[in-house]
Amino acid sequence: MLNKVEQKIDEIVTNLHHKEIKELLTKLPKGKRLRAKLILYIAGENEESIKLASIVEMIHAASLLHDDVIDDAMQRRGVDSINAIYGNKNAIMLGDILYSIGFFELVAMGPDIAKSVSNAVVQLSIGELDDVYLSKKFNTDALIYRDMIYKKTASLMEASAYSAATLAGKNPNAYARYGKNLGIAFQMIDDMLDITSDTQTLGKPALHDFVEGKTTLPYIYLYEKLDTSEKQKLASMHCRALDKAEQEWIVSNIKKYDIIEKCYLEAKELVLEALAAIKSEKNQKLDSIAKEMIDRSF
Ligand code: FPP
Ligand code: MG
Repeated sequence: MLNKVEQKIDEIVTNLHHKEIKELLTKLPKGKRLRAKLILYIAGENEESIKLASIVEMIHAASLLHDDVIDDAMQRRGVDSINAIYGNKNAIMLGDILYSIGFFELVAMGPDIAKSVSNAVVQLSIGELDDVYLSKKFNTDALIYRDMIYKKTASLMEASAYSAATLAGKNPNAYARYGKNLGIAFQMIDDMLDITSDTQTLGKPALHDFVEGKTTLPYIYLYEKLDTSEKQKLASMHCRALDKAEQEWIVSNIKKYDIIEKCYLEAKELVLEALAAIKSEKNQKLDSIAKEMIDRSF
């Protein structure tokens, strides 16, 4: 099923008739294609849904190319990032190309879908900006964090689900609610894995987010549990390289206060909310995507 999406992306890129761009794209890891799956599972497999899935995946890939430049990330999904191999300039321009052809194709999909996806791109760009801005200080506000990850990650999933339902003549708002809640849970889990996974399994160094200045939900909840001097200690470690003892101090306190468990329960609530939104649709594949997200150990 996803093969057709890969073929479509390949066809769109081939139509650019540019050897170097094609070459660069072969170095881009394909990822889970979660957004494409949502679209195909909602709208079924047909020419329009495959096109929409390809567009959304190209836009998503563009956003990650830019994100790796912004985050100075040398790895993406366990392999060297495009910015690491070809430098920031090439990564940015490749992102611009993918993003622009995505939009070129999007306008032919009708105003409702074009508006939904383009609005999501505005939101995800604002979310990324908020993420960078928030990273400058130790953010202790969970509401601000949730709003940022909604914009940065869930907005495109929400729009993908809304647009696919629109294509299929299904209830767009129910599917949008599913996409939104799933997306927020997805980013929360990604942020938890940055703490619980080691470098090998995640393809990036553990606690990398905190070193980058990103005070994700586990750090916010940990901060709430600590006494005044410990709060100061944690805040003093924000946004800088950590030695082994400091890393261990953070991880052991996260264990001591069951922080991952607390975050997990919150992600689970969101997944249940996603499932409830499409309960009457009886879509087993979408149900499974949501359940599998939380059916894992941390
Ligand atoms: C990953 O966050 C980043 C995003 C999901 C969104 C990035 C958005 C932009 C750079 C805006 C520009 C958009 C376009 C379409 C060109 P993360 O750094 O928390 O996750 P990671 O661990 O996967 O890097
Ligand atoms: Mg990043």
